[in-house]
Amino acid sequence: MALDAVDPLLSRATELVQTNGGTILAASETGLTASFGAPKPLEDHAAFACRTALALRQLAAAQAGPAISICIALDTGNVVVSDAPEPDRAEVRGGPVSVAHLISQAPRPDRVIATERTHSSAGGFVTMRELAPLVFSGAKSGQKLYEVVEINRGRSRWQLRTERQLSPLVGREMQLQMLNKAWHDACDGEGQTVMIVGDPGLGKSRITQEFVGAIPCGDAENLEAGALETNLRSGFVVIRKALKELFAVGDMEASPAALDKVLAAWSARGLDQRLLDPILAIMELPTQEALWMALTGPERSRRMQQAAVALLLSLAGVRPVVLLVEDLHWIDYESEAILARLAQTAGGGRILLILTCRPDYDRSAFAAARPVEIRLSGLSPIESRSLIDFLVGRDSALDGLRESLSEACRGNALFLEETVRNLAETGKLEGQPGRYRLTGKLDEIVVPSNIRSLIDARFERLDIDAKRVAEVASVFGGEIPLASLSRMVALPEARFDAALRSLKNADLLVEVQVFPDVLLRFKHGLIRNAISERIMATALVELHRTALAELKACYADRLEEHSERLARHAQEAQLWEEAATHLLISAQRAIKRSAYSSALEQLDLGIELLRANEVAGADEHEIDFQLAKGAALMAARGWGSRDILAAFQRAEELCQKTGDKERLFTALRGRAQYYMISGKPAAAQELASRWVSLMNGQGDPGLAIESEYMFWTNNFFLGEPAAPRPPAKRQSA
Ligand SMILES: Nc1ncnc2c1ncn2[C@@H]1O[C@H](COP(=O)(O)OP(=O)(O)OP(=O)(O)O)[C@@H](O)[C@H]1O
Ligand SMILES: [Mg+2]
Repeated sequence: MALDAVDPLLSRATELVQTNGGTILAASETGLTASFGAPKPLEDHAAFACRTALALRQLAAAQAGPAISICIALDTGNVVVSDAPEPDRAEVRGGPVSVAHLISQAPRPDRVIATERTHSSAGGFVTMRELAPLVFSGAKSGQKLYEVVEINRGRSRWQLRTERQLSPLVGREMQLQMLNKAWHDACDGEGQTVMIVGDPGLGKSRITQEFVGAIPCGDAENLEAGALETNLRSGFVVIRKALKELFAVGDMEASPAALDKVLAAWSARGLDQRLLDPILAIMELPTQEALWMALTGPERSRRMQQAAVALLLSLAGVRPVVLLVEDLHWIDYESEAILARLAQTAGGGRILLILTCRPDYDRSAFAAARPVEIRLSGLSPIESRSLIDFLVGRDSALDGLRESLSEACRGNALFLEETVRNLAETGKLEGQPGRYRLTGKLDEIVVPSNIRSLIDARFERLDIDAKRVAEVASVFGGEIPLASLSRMVALPEARFDAALRSLKNADLLVEVQVFPDVLLRFKHGLIRNAISERIMATALVELHRTALAELKACYADRLEEHSERLARHAQEAQLWEEAATHLLISAQRAIKRSAYSSALEQLDLGIELLRANEVAGADEHEIDFQLAKGAALMAARGWGSRDILAAFQRAEELCQKTGDKERLFTALRGRAQYYMISGKPAAAQELASRWVSLMNGQGDPGLAIESEYMFWTNNFFLGEPAAPRPPAKRQSA
């Protein structure tokens, strides 16, 4: 590679990375490392990285002079960002950086190679082709790699989402009625602006598309455009998209053909010639009058804005216009100004302007137009349930999963769809959508990668204090005592309050109780999981330790009630013995409420923790777990189940090993019960004799009654109802 060719290439490459929202981590004549989504948040970071990579390859190919071959590799995942004072100087480290370095050594020059994680994160935005396994030093066997082929251009986020099967629409009747009313008013000449506001995934695009799609074709001029995350810098982007749709100009169409189309449509529609040049300028097409170029920049911009508004109003003179503009939170300044002006003047025309945005978008530009605001909240529990039924099916074996999904996703349709898809893709569910089966036990709902990037971007927009509070809060599953949170975060009061306020405003945390103590919780379980997964493993252990101590102090008078939660914190804090103790209490409580399967899960987990971590005194602890397990199994599986025998035999073995006579009685009693019920009264009788000799001399009346009862029932099953007394006693009498 000639060095004089490298410098200009590097500076062009740097520019490309930056305009696509990325950050350069390192650049030299031998290579360039860039990161998307960290430290600067970028929702569709994988797609932007792919787009930049393809553009870089094109750049190298078009390089004049000696040919340059480049190798580009992409990986996606969690990284560590150092706290550099300037974002452009940040240091980003971690798995994806080294994996990408490694794969860039693969013998595939001039290809853009992406890992499975990048493939899944980029979703429908990018076309990729799976590659045959590549051999290179450090390659992992079975690692799937893809070639990035092209960016699926000219598509809105909504079109990409709808590539997958749409779930049937649930709820939203009232919102559709409001849109309908606005539409009728607009048709009657009272133009309307409707602003649909809601968190990502709540269905802003879905209801607007349902509504617009239901307007018969000839009844309105339908125009649609949407902003993208990287649009902020460049002017008129969104309006340009709407105009391209109006004149049926393709996204990649060459300038002469596009100009012909516009001019033909202009005269066919009889549009005002005075508007032509500014509209052509917005569309980045050659203008017709030389005078246009003589105008100053600000004057041209002013005229372009005026012309766009005038053109849309003139279209509305012919037939009603529905202009849908999505994702205002990413809109460019000029397009926003045009829409705000249109909203203000639309009142007298047949225009329905539908705008969608997320709650953090500053809507003040539209305040004067007083738009009708439709604020979307999550689906109601009943609506969520019907969506979940559609996604996974109604089989009662999935009850637990349905409950966990509705708890984790809290009425967010996108979270539900993506989580179910992720469970199917990772093999946790098998079968067909709407008719799934669980393949095993489901521990925790994992955050799908595309939802993670959405949450990460939202998290990155928070200031440093709010991030800290959110991270600490994410350690608590369920309710978060405010006082504990404040102690653990250890910020000055005013800063803590401000951070909390911004988390509430961002709708991440909600207050669930104000008296006697303030309790908070994360609005979405998935957001909580995603934030807590960002915390470094070592810090997480410490935070769980503190949270455990806080919760124990907070609920000192009702620890049993909170045993399940305490067990989870103790487990995360790696306090194995304590985790086992809480698990046992929680399982015993579950048995009392007849929740046997949950009890059995907790008992098995407790045994696993004791054994896997070689807890001191594990034998003594396990006896209680096996005895409780035997009792729960009797109710859950029926008295003759062989698992019961295994549990009591194991308890018996451990009692003998530790010399624990008292619990040995319970173990023997359990085993005898099993024999008696499963038609082996003689074996039961023999065990009963063993424990009678064990208890001789103990004089415990409880044990004596139990023994008497066992002998009596055994004798009855043996056909000797007249011999009610224990044989051991009879012999000694
Ligand atoms: N009421 C609903 N019934 C059924 N499915 C829904 C409903 N609302 C949303 N969905 C589905 O959830 C997914 C996300 O919805 P949508 O794209 O409309 O969200 P959004 O609010 O526009 O999010 P973003 O801010 O990311 O654009 C889509 O697949 C959509 O079909
Ligand atoms: Mg949307």
